[in-house]
Amino acid sequence: MKNFKVAVIAGDGIGPEVIREGRKVLSKVAPQLQSKLQFSEYDLGAAQYLKTKEAMPESVFKELAGSDAIYLGAVGDPKVPPGILEREILLKIRFELDLYINLRPCILYEGAFTPLKNKGPQDIHFVVVRENTESVYAGLGGVFRKGTSEEVAIQEDINTRKGVERCVRFAYDYCQKRNHKKVLTLVDKANVLTHAHQLWRRVFAEVGRDYPDVRTNATYVDAAGMDFVRKPEIFDTLVTNNIFGDILTDLGAIISGGLGLASSANLNPSRKEGGASALFEPVHGSAPDIAGKGLANPLAAILAAKMMLEFFGEKSAAGRIEKAVRATLLENIFQPESSDLKISTSAVGDRVCHFL
Ligand code: NAI
Ligand code: MG
Repeated sequence: MKNFKVAVIAGDGIGPEVIREGRKVLSKVAPQLQSKLQFSEYDLGAAQYLKTKEAMPESVFKELAGSDAIYLGAVGDPKVPPGILEREILLKIRFELDLYINLRPCILYEGAFTPLKNKGPQDIHFVVVRENTESVYAGLGGVFRKGTSEEVAIQEDINTRKGVERCVRFAYDYCQKRNHKKVLTLVDKANVLTHAHQLWRRVFAEVGRDYPDVRTNATYVDAAGMDFVRKPEIFDTLVTNNIFGDILTDLGAIISGGLGLASSANLNPSRKEGGASALFEPVHGSAPDIAGKGLANPLAAILAAKMMLEFFGEKSAAGRIEKAVRATLLENIFQPESSDLKISTSAVGDRVCHFL
């Protein structure tokens, strides 16, 4: 039996509340797995940082890097200046472990709420492949004459041939294997960012020659935002840069049942054996506005756990979790015309376990 080491970072706000339910579901399926999951919990986040002024001790990072996967709730807290926890915990893991793919399904299940009129589950089932290590997230740039009326702030948009190509190639592969409509859409702003995004266009065309069965198109990000709302049914797999992917997938989440249902995988698909090559997390953040009230929907965290099982090769258990989530959603768990829950966070986890 294979052993997988899973590092758990519950984090801040609703993070621990939703991760608890994810763990509940993982415990429920554990007896039927082909492998054994060994969990270690890491107390990272606002409380730890405020106590020690260190968001990510090097020794902890080494342990995370030595695990097989990381399961994260969310980090971020109003008591800590914005960016510290996000950059030193989440972005550090993404960058230093080179998790260059952020895979974000936008799939509307029956029973979940979409604010789009006349659109249903048959219309909203696409996947966004977001580049996860470059773009303006790379942190290059600086400020000059800070705090004066002459201040200059520069944040560079990094696009490397290698970074773009490996992301685009993954997206073609994914689209081909997904075998849905076999249409891959590149989302960019090549009409204005003529240096950076024409690199994306060239690479997209070149790599596409290796995938003659995948149809392609390219769209500007502003138009893509409009089409997420107007005709989401045209999409199958989309590939885009880090910042556009970040923004578009919140929109993708809200049309496919809300942030409480959106899960994601951060992957390094080219890593060989050894070392953490994946982090699984809900798309949402720590939601301080609803933390501690039992209002958070844990299904995003539960679906992130399902993605982790797929990554470990546990297809059948992953499939059963998805089925149990679907069954839970048919139970009328939301307020009318809303993605706000009618039942508590832990009750949702219990219902999923019930269907397992
Ligand atoms: P957010 O995703 O935490 O919340 C946005 C809105 O969605 C809020 O109204 C919240 O109540 C609602 N919401 C989020 N998750 C929900 C759930 N599971 N069930 C029901 N409602 C849910 O984003 P926001 O407010 O912009 O950020 C809050 C903090 O989280 C910030 O510190 C931010 O930097 C951090 N953040 C961390 C992320 C991560 O760790 N991966 C990702 C996004 C934000
Ligand atoms: Mg985001």
